[in-house]
Amino acid sequence: MVFADPAFREANRANWDERVPIHRGNRTGTYRISEFLAGDDRLHPIEDSELGPVDGARLLHLQCHFGLDTLRLARRGARVTGVDFSPAAIAEARALAARIGRDDARFVESDVYAAAEAVKGRFDIVFTTWGTICWLPDLDAWARVIAAKLAPGGRFYFADGHPFMLMLEEIDGRLVPSYPQDTPPDRPLVFEATQTYTGDRTPIVNSRTYEWVHSISRLLTALDRAGLAVEWLREHSQVPWPAFPMCVPAGPGMYRLPPEQPALPLALSLTARLRSGS
Ligand SMILES: C[S@@+](CC[C@H](N)C(=O)[O-])C[C@H]1O[C@@H](n2cnc3c(N)ncnc32)[C@H](O)[C@@H]1O
Repeated sequence: MVFADPAFREANRANWDERVPIHRGNRTGTYRISEFLAGDDRLHPIEDSELGPVDGARLLHLQCHFGLDTLRLARRGARVTGVDFSPAAIAEARALAARIGRDDARFVESDVYAAAEAVKGRFDIVFTTWGTICWLPDLDAWARVIAAKLAPGGRFYFADGHPFMLMLEEIDGRLVPSYPQDTPPDRPLVFEATQTYTGDRTPIVNSRTYEWVHSISRLLTALDRAGLAVEWLREHSQVPWPAFPMCVPAGPGMYRLPPEQPALPLALSLTARLRSGS
């Protein structure tokens, strides 16, 4: 059992099920849904500049939420499969796929940790971005799923919040170190939030979540142990959500710290490939 207490996973799933209609409703515009329905295939500037061509690639999107990025990648010619553990997210992703005529996009309801069995076949690209590993207690098991689903020569693309940023809280206008760098798998950080991060004020009843901060060394070691060789890793001073109340806009859908703050790392991205023989 990857989750030391099944209640951690169940609380998180109930929380995500509840967020899906709020995010799909898109009252604050965070998810750019009208642009998406009009044919937009843009991701955020970081992935757009780093991911490279996906045309014709078999692509597995882990933790796909309600499928917007999965379907944007399908529009770029990828043969996509999205995986998420939230039934509400998968139902909405399938509805969106039907609405835009992408019946070729597959969406599978599965925990990430069960995805190696739940999803058939292997992929040229495994893609996972923005708000993913903070929901996962065990990066070794996560990396093994990625390695199991990559075809020989396949690549893994990852972009997410930087662990340094995830250790800080803004308190009275100052960034304060608040969380240790590696959350123990069996002692997650416990958060209570009655609203989601988009600024929509709809109250969330399943407000308790269990989350994990993973250091860069834990991330890189997990990929290496699973047979994945990192080709490059980049750190960014921008992130696609206002990580702290003090953040200011930094281009389309992106946020950074205000100019009076040092440019701390807010995001990281990397590509890794299966080592031959793995
Ligand atoms: C912040 S969202 C990721 C957003 C994503 N970047 C996108 O394309 O919109 C996190 C997602 O992880 C999913 N999730 C969390 N824990 C999971 C798990 N153990 N297995 C599968 N999905 C999980 C949630 O249901 C949610 O849809």
